[in-house]
Amino acid sequence: MVQKDSRKSSSLVFLFSASALLLSLLQIGKWASKSAVITSLTGSTSQNVSTIITGHFSCDHNYTIEIMSFDPLVIYVNNFVTEQEIDHLLGVTKDTWEDSYVSHRRDDQYFSELDKEWRSSQSAIIETKDPVSECLKRRLTNILGNLQHIDTEPLQLVKYEGGEPFRMHQDWLHIPKNVTFNAQHRHRLHNRLITSFTYLEDDCTGGETYFPELVGVGSKADGDKFSRTETGKGLLVKPKRGNAVLWNNLFMNGTGDERLSHASLPVKSGRKIGMNLFSVYYLDTPIVGDGVADDSIHQQVQ
Ligand SMILES: *[C@@H]1O[C@H](CO)[C@@H](O)[C@H](O)[C@H]1NC(C)=O
Ligand SMILES: *[C@@H]1O[C@H](CO)[C@@H](O)[C@H](O)[C@H]1NC(C)=O
Ligand SMILES: *[C@@H]1O[C@H](CO)[C@@H](O)[C@H](O)[C@H]1NC(C)=O
Ligand SMILES: *[C@@H]1O[C@H](CO)[C@@H](O)[C@H](O)[C@H]1NC(C)=O
Repeated sequence: MVQKDSRKSSSLVFLFSASALLLSLLQIGKWASKSAVITSLTGSTSQNVSTIITGHFSCDHNYTIEIMSFDPLVIYVNNFVTEQEIDHLLGVTKDTWEDSYVSHRRDDQYFSELDKEWRSSQSAIIETKDPVSECLKRRLTNILGNLQHIDTEPLQLVKYEGGEPFRMHQDWLHIPKNVTFNAQHRHRLHNRLITSFTYLEDDCTGGETYFPELVGVGSKADGDKFSRTETGKGLLVKPKRGNAVLWNNLFMNGTGDERLSHASLPVKSGRKIGMNLFSVYYLDTPIVGDGVADDSIHQQVQ
């Protein structure tokens, strides 16, 4: 169902997928059906079952960081996810890809819809009880320290091939949402604080993540992982399997930072698969200071 509306605006778009929408409406039913998919995958002969982690695995993992930009905060992470985790994520989503949705705002409401001109990629959601999903949530929230890290959104994989771009957009919401992904508190105003975007498959040319507003990228920037554009403006982050880029979407007062607008440049050949993991900012709790961690949930929601 593609709706045309001249009022929609490029800056008012954020990532959303069909599954995420369904998850928020039909959380329990959807999770049940995702579990069934995983079960059938592990039982299938075509799937390399050794790549899918079914039980406990060690989430211990070392990575290194490099600061790309201080203000706004943008961090490059080397080796954020392991080969084993990547194989698992690609294995469990093998048959669950769906066209990516975009969320356009009209007046004060969001409409999640297909819009191939904006975003022609495919998306897949990982169920929150998946062992790798739980591990990566912990890995991200461990980085956040004094920043609010009560919740993250479900992991969302995105696949681009054959010239597919995702036009310039922001990940933060102009109007905070009230319906959450957390069954313990279904209604709580929230926005997206930290975006982490991890490259899971990099067998492609093009497909850089481009931040036109980021200044100060040196001419000697490592051209293999990141660089500035030929005109010297902005930051280009190249797809590198296992590596991630993290950034802060919001000012301390909760307002979205326009300087984090970014695009996925067209994948000229091959295929890129990335993973979005967003940390949630609940407006009823400070961005820094008391109540930032997840034990606050139990005090607030009885
Ligand atoms: C399955 O995956 C393992 C680990 O990645 C690999 O060593 C093995 O060759 C694969 N087997 C098949 C049949 O693809
Ligand atoms: C991470 O680094 C620490 C300190 O060097 C080391 O003790 C630990 O074994 C490493 N963990 C892994 C999973 O490599
Ligand atoms: C959020 O939704 C709940 C349930 O519909 C409602 O009671 C509450 O007033 C809403 N909060 C805001 C700030 O809109
Ligand atoms: C929030 O802070 C930013 C950065 O200091 C500022 O530009 C913006 O106007 C502030 N927004 C509000 C609503 O105060």
